[in-house]
Amino acid sequence: MNPWPAIDGIAYGGDYNPEQWPRATWEEDVALMREAGVNLVSVGMFSWGLLEVREGIFDFSWMDELFDLLHSHGVSVDLGTPTASPPAWFFAQYPDARQVTRDGTVMGFGSRGMAAHSSPEYRRAIVRVADALAERYAQHPAVVMWHVHNEYGVPVGEDYSPRSAAAFRAWLQRRYGSLEALNAAWGTAVWGQHYEEWEHVAVPAVAPSVVNPAQRLDFVRFTDEQIRECFVLERDAIRRHSDKPVTTNFMANQHWGSDLWKWAAEVDLVSDDHYLVAADPEAHIGLAIAADLTRSVGGGKPWMLMEHSTSGVNWQPRNVAKRPGEMARNSLAHVGRGSDAVLFFQWRAARHGQEKFHSAMLPHAGKDSRVFREVVELGRTLKRIDAIRGTRVLADVAVLWDFESFWAQDLEWRPSEDLSHQEQVRAYYERLWRDNITVDFALPSHDLSRYRLVVVPSQYLLRAEDAANLNRYVEQGGTLVVSYFAAVVDEHDAVHPGGFMRPLEPSLGVWVEEHLPLREDDAMTLSWTHDSHHQLSADMWAEDLVVTDADVVAHYVDGPGAGKPAITRNQHGSGTAWYVSTRLDADSLAHVMSAVYADAGVAPATLPEGVEVVTRHGDSGTYVVAINHADEAADLTIRGNDLLSGDNAEGTFRLPGGSVAVVRTVNEDTHPDRGPGQ
Ligand code: GLA
Repeated sequence: MNPWPAIDGIAYGGDYNPEQWPRATWEEDVALMREAGVNLVSVGMFSWGLLEVREGIFDFSWMDELFDLLHSHGVSVDLGTPTASPPAWFFAQYPDARQVTRDGTVMGFGSRGMAAHSSPEYRRAIVRVADALAERYAQHPAVVMWHVHNEYGVPVGEDYSPRSAAAFRAWLQRRYGSLEALNAAWGTAVWGQHYEEWEHVAVPAVAPSVVNPAQRLDFVRFTDEQIRECFVLERDAIRRHSDKPVTTNFMANQHWGSDLWKWAAEVDLVSDDHYLVAADPEAHIGLAIAADLTRSVGGGKPWMLMEHSTSGVNWQPRNVAKRPGEMARNSLAHVGRGSDAVLFFQWRAARHGQEKFHSAMLPHAGKDSRVFREVVELGRTLKRIDAIRGTRVLADVAVLWDFESFWAQDLEWRPSEDLSHQEQVRAYYERLWRDNITVDFALPSHDLSRYRLVVVPSQYLLRAEDAANLNRYVEQGGTLVVSYFAAVVDEHDAVHPGGFMRPLEPSLGVWVEEHLPLREDDAMTLSWTHDSHHQLSADMWAEDLVVTDADVVAHYVDGPGAGKPAITRNQHGSGTAWYVSTRLDADSLAHVMSAVYADAGVAPATLPEGVEVVTRHGDSGTYVVAINHADEAADLTIRGNDLLSGDNAEGTFRLPGGSVAVVRTVNEDTHPDRGPGQ
């Protein structure tokens, strides 16, 4: 099967909820869609109650009419299954299928979110509705792909209902085989949790104090698997009727409950929803992380930006409107990082309900508006850069992103509440972003040999075999940089024997005797060991390192680790491994990373402040997507043809403030011998 839907051009459009509007509006919608260059809309995700009006009784009449209308106007359909929002009759009939929160609250109706994912009644119902839709529309010429559910795992993922408890027990029996093995893995000798009967093993509901972290970690794994099983049930129901690609929309870098590496293996093509964090003045860096992660979990293949917003959203504390040009910059940033689609939530702003203050392609103000004019212009832009489709982003550097480790680190009673994987990943990624170094994300179990540099910002949980993989990577010539609080526990959240970070000692030449967290607002100075005039600043965290092999690059001048090693570098086999045991400020991290780049043979690019450049490579050419996030014009050195303005860039190329260029370049390909991302 060709995993890309039959769409002419870069997919452009968004969620379309015509069931919220009278028929007369549909005619206006399709006319304006044509004007904007829309070629794909996602339909049906929240329409279960209007499709299956009573259990087993379907009314497809409105959808039949809609799809014919869309098809006659050249707009294709990404058909959503409505299972993120079961109807009123379902919950009335099956009250036991309601989700229960950790504190025992039974979820009510009138909102959205799936039912209990382990409920047999819910599972039967989702298969029935997916099957009915697929049977009805598999051959409809408008339908080019399938969109199962909507954003699995939110707003509520974990379910503490009796149904879930029974399924959890069965899952544990499969995983551990015996109670003896479960008792050992969970360390139930602690606080008298020892089990003699399977019936006594329960979901980790709220308890008088902190619940066993190994139990909670398994519950997160179980939850993710149960939810994925629901996806697979629907996907397989669709596949019985249709061979068109099936996806579900991820939320990379915005929701951490789904192990996207595992999810990506189940979908035909990867798609992602991304919303700027309005409180972050450089939210485009978070966007870049999300886009790189989406591409990486999808194995480097082109992916779909399934949703983003034309302007403000409605669910953040302060929903900042996008400035003129920002929507285009965001859209092209996703394209630059591998998306062959630019889709939005949603086509027409809703008059009613919870999302009426959310922006849309067609705002409440109508077509004579700034947003709609920019939407039309973006449609034209995407046509001009059509040749970029199918090309790939190549990276020399990988940053590890391991959901299991993040889940474990997020549990209670860690050495400092200031430890944050999000912050650590962002700090290292941001450095690479500012140095214009494109990265893939990867797991510690992946074959990393294609990368010159592997960055490990937050790997609290590290399996022994994955540590061996990282050690091997260094031995065979790679450069590794590991940040603090790494390789602390194994897959059961049990501390590695012999001290913290022992599994990485072979490559790092150092292990950790004691964690030395700082009080809030305390700061530290570090000194470069061979140049005492050169000082670095850090805060939050220090460690007492035991150096068995490495060179000490910098040591703590003051703070709880005063006089002790802080940053080390070790030659192992034909590679080099760095360890950074504290949270450096941005300038200090820049300094350390420039030394790391030198070891790795990675070349940072110096570009004007606020300019982002990403390159896609393919048979049709090499495309430099250059985005100027700053207000001032920037001069870049590129040779080629700007597909947007039609201008030839002959060396120096002027990129006006806030604008984007997509230059088909004749510059030398800097990665001729590199394969696509992981
Ligand atoms: C999510 C959902 C959409 C919509 C948007 C609003 O991404 O998938 O249905 O609610 O948020 O930002």
